[in-house]
Amino acid sequence: MSEILQPQQSDAQLKNYDQLKETFHWDDIHSVFSWHETGNVNMAYECIDRHVDDGRGDHPALRYADSSREETYTFADLKGATNQAAHMFRRLEVAKGDRVFIFMPRSPELYISLLGAIKAGAVAGPLFEAFMNEAVRSRLEDSEASTIVTTPELLERIPYTDLPHLNKIILVGDQVPQDGPFYSYFNEMKASPTTDDAIEWVSLEDGMILHYTSGSTGKPKGVYHVHHAMIQHYQTAKWVLDLHEDDVFWCTADPGWVTGTSYGIFGPWLNGVTNIVRGGRFSPDDWYHTIEKQRVTVWYSAPTAFRMLMAAPKEIIEKYDLSSLRHILSVGEPLNPEVVRWGWEVFGLRIHDTWWMTETGAMLICNYPSEPIKPGSMGKPIPGVHAAIIDDQGKELPPNEMGNLAVQTGWPAQMRKIWKNETKFNEYFSIPGWYISGDTAFRDEDGYFWFQGRNDDVIVTAGERVGPFEIESKLVEHPSVAEAGVIGKPDEMRGHIIKAFIAVRDGYEHSDELKEEIRSYIKNELSAHSVPREIEFKETLPKTRSGKIMRRVLKAWELDEPAGDLSTMDDN
Ligand code: WTA
Repeated sequence: MSEILQPQQSDAQLKNYDQLKETFHWDDIHSVFSWHETGNVNMAYECIDRHVDDGRGDHPALRYADSSREETYTFADLKGATNQAAHMFRRLEVAKGDRVFIFMPRSPELYISLLGAIKAGAVAGPLFEAFMNEAVRSRLEDSEASTIVTTPELLERIPYTDLPHLNKIILVGDQVPQDGPFYSYFNEMKASPTTDDAIEWVSLEDGMILHYTSGSTGKPKGVYHVHHAMIQHYQTAKWVLDLHEDDVFWCTADPGWVTGTSYGIFGPWLNGVTNIVRGGRFSPDDWYHTIEKQRVTVWYSAPTAFRMLMAAPKEIIEKYDLSSLRHILSVGEPLNPEVVRWGWEVFGLRIHDTWWMTETGAMLICNYPSEPIKPGSMGKPIPGVHAAIIDDQGKELPPNEMGNLAVQTGWPAQMRKIWKNETKFNEYFSIPGWYISGDTAFRDEDGYFWFQGRNDDVIVTAGERVGPFEIESKLVEHPSVAEAGVIGKPDEMRGHIIKAFIAVRDGYEHSDELKEEIRSYIKNELSAHSVPREIEFKETLPKTRSGKIMRRVLKAWELDEPAGDLSTMDDN
């Protein structure tokens, strides 16, 4: 029997979980928002302006800090700034539904541009700052983005002359090239009024954000979300993050990933709380310093970060006063019971796991501050959501049997399409009535879900999702590489690391120098987080008769396990 930890918070906002599971309906909370009578909505308005209308304009909304900059913006400040940004986009003729990409390191300008684009009715496309040319190109090409906001340092990674749709590049900097489609963010903002007449009122089903994420077999997919998601961002931030008006919330994820928008922007601001954004890289000292200095009360991070903090010398944590923390949560990869025990030891708090995906848009299966938790389990579905373990035919499996983790369709934040790829979209819904996650899990007799693994080749490394196909495609473009297969190799700290098996072309040596060269090639072309930490040279790679690399066999080699059915393998 597994360990059960009793809830810590008697005043948590999710009360009567069992009863709400039976009675709650998403329509019940429409009346929270200003649009419910007109039907006209805008996510950015609900995140920011609504709190100014409610008399909370002076409340700090964003506290930004990095090594050289520290700024606070109230809701009133952000209302003005995001209105200016909306005017800027309008003046540059961004129309409703246009894709506006935001490609820059975390900074106040990132948050202002993203919300300003949404205010102007555009679909925002956040791009992680570490992406290099090829990764940037493929996403801008696929989405046919018209506009990008970026910094002068990142400009060289945008092959704009090859991107016919991209005709506005807004640079957050003082220097703007004379020739070409360039605009200065600061000049454009200065020339824009703070009035709210640039807000585009849209319908709940209009597009809001496009997040590119990796699959196992193709190029990254554009996961398309609509304004309707706000219902669930708002409510899960209450039930699961347990945000109250005076909380100081810190989500450590970058907005290039879905956690960094759904819960780094929308969830906290829909609830009117102070949102902490820290620029720069991870370091235990900086992170603890941030909690102490900002008096963070609710903290949302990922298992790899917790494991890295756990591995840091004890003296570091002892230097800081972390007593402001009230609630800690985790997402992105399995949360080991050992990490939960560490959290209890050092913070006196349970770390609460949450499960969801880019495609689901918001949390679905979670541990709640009001409910007992079982360390190692992802928890139970939120009210309004029915999840189950089903077999390949769609039959629900009894407790403790492993199968496909699936969710009954129809929750508010569910993706509405995969950009220009209906076939891919339909694959998720191949069993009528269900969304098939691609994760395998089981449910115990108390209704708790336990993650077991992915049933495709998607790699989750350090909480980030990477597709083997994008890396393999890039690897074979290197002059030395004849064939490449990429898998996730289990790793204690990072969950998985990326491992590449490579067959080289004639005339190339299996040398460490070549491994290094291949690694820096991937780093420069794709991104640092796509780099194979391990490379193993092979004479040939296992392939099907149609020439597809069999990653299943590579995994079996790696784990020293039987490779299963090899009847489709080409043995020449
Ligand atoms: C994995 C991140 C175990 C899972 C919000 C899923 C998890 C993929 C958990 C989605 C968890 C996410 N326990 N695994 N609590 N949360 N995952 O799209 O395999 O970046 O399918 O979304 O991460 O990753 P994505």
